[in-house]
Amino acid sequence: MSDTVFPVPAEVAARAHIVDAQYQEMYRRSVEDPDGFWGEHGKRIDWIKPYTRVKNTSFDYHNVSIKWFEDGTLNVSANCVDRHLEKRGDKPAIIWEGDDPNEHKVITYNDLHREVNKFANVLHGQGVKKGDRVTIYMPMIPEAAYAMLACARIGAIHSVVFGGFSPDSLAQRIEDCKSECVITADEGLRGGRKVPLKSNVDKAAEKAPVKSVVVVRRTGGDIAMREGRDVWYHEEADRVSDHCRPVEMNAEDPLFILYTSGSTGKPKGVMHTSGGYLVYASMTHEYVFDYHEGEIYWCTADVGWVTGHSYIVYGPLANGATTLMFEGVPTYPGPGRFWEVCDKHDVNIFYTAPTAIRALMGAGDEHVTQTSRKSLRLLGSVGEPINPEAWTWYYNVVGDGRCPIVDTWWQTETGGILITPLPGATDLKPGSATRPFFGVQPAIVDSEGKFLEGASEGNLVITDSWPGQMRTVYGDHERFIQTYFATYKGQYFTGDGCRRDEDGYYWITGRVDDVINVSGHRMGTAEVESALVAHPKVSEAAVVGYPHDIKGQGIYAYVTLMEGQEPTDELKKELVRHVRNEIGPIASPDLIQFAPGLPKTRSGKIMRRILRKIAEDSFDSLGDTSTLADPTVVDDLIDNRQNRA
Ligand code: WTA
Repeated sequence: MSDTVFPVPAEVAARAHIVDAQYQEMYRRSVEDPDGFWGEHGKRIDWIKPYTRVKNTSFDYHNVSIKWFEDGTLNVSANCVDRHLEKRGDKPAIIWEGDDPNEHKVITYNDLHREVNKFANVLHGQGVKKGDRVTIYMPMIPEAAYAMLACARIGAIHSVVFGGFSPDSLAQRIEDCKSECVITADEGLRGGRKVPLKSNVDKAAEKAPVKSVVVVRRTGGDIAMREGRDVWYHEEADRVSDHCRPVEMNAEDPLFILYTSGSTGKPKGVMHTSGGYLVYASMTHEYVFDYHEGEIYWCTADVGWVTGHSYIVYGPLANGATTLMFEGVPTYPGPGRFWEVCDKHDVNIFYTAPTAIRALMGAGDEHVTQTSRKSLRLLGSVGEPINPEAWTWYYNVVGDGRCPIVDTWWQTETGGILITPLPGATDLKPGSATRPFFGVQPAIVDSEGKFLEGASEGNLVITDSWPGQMRTVYGDHERFIQTYFATYKGQYFTGDGCRRDEDGYYWITGRVDDVINVSGHRMGTAEVESALVAHPKVSEAAVVGYPHDIKGQGIYAYVTLMEGQEPTDELKKELVRHVRNEIGPIASPDLIQFAPGLPKTRSGKIMRRILRKIAEDSFDSLGDTSTLADPTVVDDLIDNRQNRA
């Protein structure tokens, strides 16, 4: 934690949409009169039929219900595309930078309109109708954004699945929301390596059959097409018109489902709806990044995650901004890539994750300092707590000490940024996400749910709704209530720990549940465990996070083998491969420890607290182990720990 304060620079305040006095006044009004505040700001997007009701929400445990602008109608794709044509038709909507530094494309709003309309007609041709679910499993190419907006245009609900997920994970997500159409590409391209997307879809479809697969050609690689099910996008697009009328949608009609990991069970289908989500994504994009007309904005996330949804596609495009979409990775062809791209396209606002910053920090300053970066004006961070060392490097080396950093805290569930500095209003403290955005009411509770006042540390809850909030877990409203509103009844529980300092600044301390954050990706420990125990040689597994220099948290797996199995290094490698195949490379265990026994209470519950301490190599403070069924297993675990300092 750092106590240094970085005041708002005068020149930043001078051009900002919001300075501190405005923040104070707007924040006060947003919580005292949410109907008035959001009634006004809801007009930032175009409505077909204007709303007359604004907020109708209840966090009551027995009756959780969240509706915003409920009698208004709109179309999200018309808001992100059509409404800009008159003023910005020839302006770039998307700048696409390929994996190969010699490849890039500029897509104007006119181009975007044509492409989205065509894509929508292709989907119609595949029988996709309003309310149908469409799974999108794509590389970072403009067609991913076209596909999302095409769904929104015809009222289909998209479920984007990150291209790094395995066929099994993809099948699970296709099945859960019962989608009959998948959009994919022949292959993806990342860091010079090919990702076999279409072949993964084929494998997934063996488990979760679909009626149609639309394949975009990216690499031209050799793939199999199944007659009657698979079509090439470019062939279909040639046959359809480039006009498709946007469907009138209710504010509360679903826009998308996005699967995310939690403490227990399978990933949840987080469901977001149309009106409130778009108002919130566009408003946060404008104010948090202090976006001004004509600026080039780059968020390095993948569209497979919520950051890509809200801050590559929906927020920026709703604002008529220019959003840069990057196909590649930060270290290819070399560790200077991000900064070279900033210079190549004159990027003004750059938004990335701490894990990337730490990795590039390790590669040496010269990769940064040999670039100009003079176009940069604002830096952003998202996905995990940013340690003050990384913050300071980002600020001094990348930003040359002149670009404020917005450390934005939020979640898949929240739809948009909830706690963040506003560059013209908020003095910065490295490592703190600072203050709540308009309409957001954070509170800190102790383990009993008692509200803590003033400077305090505990669990972070949000006490009332905001327009971007998820509405339900797709197909399982009860799970929504149990996951988010049961721990502290009447409050939305974030799953994060948090400290509030004397100035009312919030410092997120990390997850307090069984979710780990690996390189900014959320991973449920239960998912990795169930992948491990699916291996025939494994009898039991317990997975915890441990501090990792680059990834933030690494995955530490304790594995008990079946009777008679040899605990070899070869088997460790086999288990890592197995988890990659089951879930995807992001779930690969970093460390595996073979454990003849796991620490369990007499009732058979695994004591993860002890496993976490050993994984952190801080076993001096194990606490009370007397309730264990067999306290001696702990000694063996300590002796054979994999993470010795
Ligand atoms: C963590 C990503 C600290 C947090 C947008 C949260 C952060 C989880 C920050 C959500 C931040 C995200 N500081 N922690 N600025 N941003 N987190 O759903 O633990 O992929 O609960 O959404 O990431 O991850 P998700």
